[in-house]
Amino acid sequence: MTRKEALNSVKANVENENLIKHMLATEAIMRALARRFGEDEEEWGLTGLLHDIDMELSEGDMATHSKLGADLVREMGASEAMAHAILCHNEAHGIPLETKLDKALFCADPLTGLIIATALVRPDKKLAGVEAKSLRKKFKEKSFAAGANREQISQCSKIGIELDDFLQLGLEAMQGIAANLGL
Ligand SMILES: [Fe+2]
Repeated sequence: MTRKEALNSVKANVENENLIKHMLATEAIMRALARRFGEDEEEWGLTGLLHDIDMELSEGDMATHSKLGADLVREMGASEAMAHAILCHNEAHGIPLETKLDKALFCADPLTGLIIATALVRPDKKLAGVEAKSLRKKFKEKSFAAGANREQISQCSKIGIELDDFLQLGLEAMQGIAANLGL
């Protein structure tokens, strides 16, 4: 599966522009993590890009979300490792995170929302001016972007990256694709 095929498939299955941007942002963080750990950047990146492809198909039903997605990406030719990471990123199924890829997707997913919210409270609403220290501050403010699950983000320690380092890596990764995110 090429990136182009993956992106076309995302666009064919998802209408919500913000959801597509969330998947692009997750892809960027997953690529940065793969580079950091010397993992397969395409595999990790495409896992991020595809992870919520079934969100509209499953109509947000957490009992089917990510099961449909895992089946869909398998049909598209994704590896079993990719399908597994996508399947277990939805905690509702209670499927344990096993591989480093599973764990990376799990902690990268909520980080995008925290970073976007941090950019949006700036007067210029741009990612470029967000500093790692303001992101760290927003992380600690539990009521800020409360949907961005802090405990889940903190699980980055399980793949061997400390929280502050992870926040910075995520920020830089998303700044690198700011134009695609409209931020
Ligand atoms: Fe997601």
